Amino acid sequence: MGKFDNKRIVLGVAGSIAAYKAVSLLRTLVEEGAEVSVVMTLAAKQFVTPLTFEVLSKRSVSTDLFSESETMPHLRLTESADLVLVAPATANTLAKSALGLADDLLSTMILAARCPLIFAPAMDGEMWDHPSVMEHTQVLRGRGVTVMEPEDGPLASGQVGRGRLPSEEAILNTVAACLSRQHDWAGQRVLVSAGPTREPIDAIRFITNGSSGKMGYAIAQAAAHRGAQVLLVSGPTNLPSPANCESTSVVTAEEMQQALEDKFSWATVLIMTAAVGDFRSRVVAPQKLKKDEWAGESLDLERTPDILASLSKQKTHQILVGFAAETENHVENGRKKLHQKTLDLVAVNHISGPDSAFGNDMNELTILTKAGEILHLDRAAKPLIAHRLLDVILPLALHRALDTPRISNLRSL
Ligand SMILES: Cc1cc2nc3c(=O)[nH]c(=O)nc-3n(C[C@H](O)[C@H](O)[C@H](O)COP(=O)(O)O)c2cc1C
Repeated sequence: MGKFDNKRIVLGVAGSIAAYKAVSLLRTLVEEGAEVSVVMTLAAKQFVTPLTFEVLSKRSVSTDLFSESETMPHLRLTESADLVLVAPATANTLAKSALGLADDLLSTMILAARCPLIFAPAMDGEMWDHPSVMEHTQVLRGRGVTVMEPEDGPLASGQVGRGRLPSEEAILNTVAACLSRQHDWAGQRVLVSAGPTREPIDAIRFITNGSSGKMGYAIAQAAAHRGAQVLLVSGPTNLPSPANCESTSVVTAEEMQQALEDKFSWATVLIMTAAVGDFRSRVVAPQKLKKDEWAGESLDLERTPDILASLSKQKTHQILVGFAAETENHVENGRKKLHQKTLDLVAVNHISGPDSAFGNDMNELTILTKAGEILHLDRAAKPLIAHRLLDVILPLALHRALDTPRISNLRSL
């Protein structure tokens, strides 16, 4: 029995010096039982001949969008595919996919694909660090596409840096994880809060925090990708709404509480990633306060509602997942929050130093469960951390008390 028996994988090969590694990758995929169709870009053919891939995949290799033998190869290839894996993915192919350009067979097929997509990039370190590559990677990840981190080490240019094609083992593990995660969240209704809240002081000033919303959006996107119905309640962020999720925008902690309470009975899982402000100004001036109108130099503050504590009291069947942002004593402080708010699981963000979770594309989490388990998720891109966190939550959601709530459809919320 192979690891990928009966799985249909399209392997896209782009024009990188690492294209030769795709030969070994193809061989392993086939040995593990996958049916692999290879699509090469014109540039890829400069590095390896299609014949090599044809022999190993026992299938013809597609390179032309306009071929004489077939009218719509870009649609046929992904029609029944379980996964599209682009390895190596060039800077050019990442850019085209992020922008939706479709000027050859591989990019057109990627645009037409409705199955999960994995990019395993390979390029010079300077290219990987270029702002445009970083932006394209972020756009793709934001859409739920898996863009793997390239590896550190010696590069073809002679330099040492980050840009090497991820190891075959890492690619195969990612493929396995992606295939096993398909639809595993189907039937779950996930309510996610994300981003900061913003408490007004006057018409233009407010109290807020540095949460970017990226972790919550990544979780919403990952859950939707895995078949869950997802409702995202978000404070002010600059992020586009994740695909296939219903989104509600709020500003203040009170608005966030209202939106979450409205939908709480619908949810099977609540994941509170929002950095809800703890304080608000007791008095809000309707106009902009002039400098000389300040009563003193201090603001009169009051506590905002404790959303998680209040939802915890209303809990019937839901799994409650809280996030804590801690600069120190992660386990101790996380445990305190877990017990105080009667959560099923708490994920502790590390927010000190340059690697702080706030605003960063990468994150690491310490996870504490009600059963006393402690788990550390090593630093990785937030979309990957989101998937790993969902892997941990899923067994809890599947085994929750079968106090089945009224089944409602997202559209009718
Ligand atoms: C020797 C050589 C090696 C290259 N290696 C890479 C690479 O590793 N990664 C990359 O992004 N581009 C690399 N390029 C540049 C791409 O081949 C070029 O951008 C091409 O347009 C990519 O097209 P494609 O994305 O359609 O395959 C290399 C070019 C040459 C000449």
